[in-house]
Amino acid sequence: MMKHEFPNLRVILHPLIQHKLTQMRDETTNTERFRRFVREVGQMLAYEVTRDLPTELVEVRTPIATFRSPMIAGKQQCLVSILRAGNGMLDGMLELLPAAKVGHIGLYRDPSTLEPVEYYFKVPSDIAERMVIVCDPMLATGNSAVAAINRLKDHGVTSIKLVCLLAAPEGVRAMLERHPDVTVTVAALDEKLNDHGYIVPGLGDAGDRIFGTR
Ligand code: URA
Repeated sequence: MMKHEFPNLRVILHPLIQHKLTQMRDETTNTERFRRFVREVGQMLAYEVTRDLPTELVEVRTPIATFRSPMIAGKQQCLVSILRAGNGMLDGMLELLPAAKVGHIGLYRDPSTLEPVEYYFKVPSDIAERMVIVCDPMLATGNSAVAAINRLKDHGVTSIKLVCLLAAPEGVRAMLERHPDVTVTVAALDEKLNDHGYIVPGLGDAGDRIFGTR
């Protein structure tokens, strides 16, 4: 785990994750490889973000003996993808959480104000009873993630975790100020935002690189 000033942030310094992330940062990595890395890192981050899920002992009979063994207990999960880049992480995360329901929130950044504008919102009707994992690859200003989590809380959700590939300190700070109850799990904490709201050094526009629209 990396040392930093944010009590709400977990940076996962795993060699497999860092190795893939470095290749994602490389501007010569093509769409096919980039998409595969997003899925794979998404899967590994899902493993980390579910580390503290509660378990309960259930009775299981092995071919040798009967004993009590742990199974996941408590709230069921819902993944919420912030469109469109969040969808790149979804497949990998669903491989580890195949029973999770999935919501989508469509937000785009107004290029002049960098403020989020919502164009789509569809979540499961029982979302308030679920533990929600929000996927947003790039936590830049934090405006989109804050807006998405505002909407989820309006729907009665009380248990939320945010998973990102990269974060800028500005975004983590915005989350801490507006949603201090939400833990942010990331593969790296980068240096800063540039004047256009891009993470530096970052990896560019995650949506464009996943979908080849650059
Ligand atoms: N969104 C991106 O896709 N990349 C950034 O660097 C910032 C926001």
